[in-house]
Amino acid sequence: MSIRSSRTEEARAARARRASRSAPSAASDSPATESGSKSARAKAPPADDWAFVERVLASPVADAVYVWGPPGTGKTFAACHADRGGRELFNVTLTPETPAAELRGFFVPRGVEFVWQDGVFVEAMRKGARLVINEVAHASADVLAILHPLLESRETARLTLPNLETVVPAPGFQVVCTDNLPPDHLPPALRDRFKSLLHVDRPHPAALERLRPGLREAALRTFDLEPERAVSVRGWLAVQAFEAELGAEGSLRAVFGGDRGAQLFEALSLGAA
Ligand SMILES: Nc1ncnc2c1ncn2[C@@H]1O[C@H](COP(=O)(O)OP(=O)(O)O)[C@@H](O)[C@H]1O
Ligand SMILES: [Mg+2]
Repeated sequence: MSIRSSRTEEARAARARRASRSAPSAASDSPATESGSKSARAKAPPADDWAFVERVLASPVADAVYVWGPPGTGKTFAACHADRGGRELFNVTLTPETPAAELRGFFVPRGVEFVWQDGVFVEAMRKGARLVINEVAHASADVLAILHPLLESRETARLTLPNLETVVPAPGFQVVCTDNLPPDHLPPALRDRFKSLLHVDRPHPAALERLRPGLREAALRTFDLEPERAVSVRGWLAVQAFEAELGAEGSLRAVFGGDRGAQLFEALSLGAA
């Protein structure tokens, strides 16, 4: 169970693994043979198991955590649901256009004067909450400038606002960032501030539990495809939701589109044969 030290190695291994994978044929979408699935898994770099991830998230020591792995594995769900020890929860998703002022706060006109309105980062600091930031790799330079001081250790984390108030986080304040990218894709100054780097590479078991058996196995197997073709649990849950109304073929088509849906239907049928 590694924290920080082996992560750069791990990320490199993950990239090498992706690069070394050959382009899949339609058959490789098939709820693959047991041996195919096993060999792909054997090549996978070690990742953290979900119980460990949830344990770290619940730890009072974990004030700045980065959770990374493929989309639809349950990173945001875990970040929002892991034991918060009574903390409030704030959950934001960044895009390159997210304005820093929206997160920090801004002056708003009220009557004849302007009053300060806290943004979500500052609100979370004041309340000693858990602040979940998704797609953190999209943070603009302006957002990073606000985020960096929040990720400092609790003794030094503080943020001076444009109204000249300096906010110190209340006890318990925790920042959990998620993204698909390995930590070595983050700006070094951001990466360096995380106390814990957690890697997941499989859907959370509770997410898989929500799928009926045939889809559950397919979901696991399609995770072994390269990232562009992997199908997240989110997609399989949508298929399951449509199934009663549209049947297997229709639900795959509705969720993944004509070509890909037909391909997956064929693969699923082959797997079931
Ligand atoms: N622990 C879980 N229990 C139940 N459902 C889950 C769990 N984790 C994920 N899911 C389901 O999978 C979907 C995708 O999870 P999410 O956390 O958004 O993925 P990620 O952040 O890794 O892209 C969620 O919307 C939810 O429906
Ligand atoms: Mg997410």
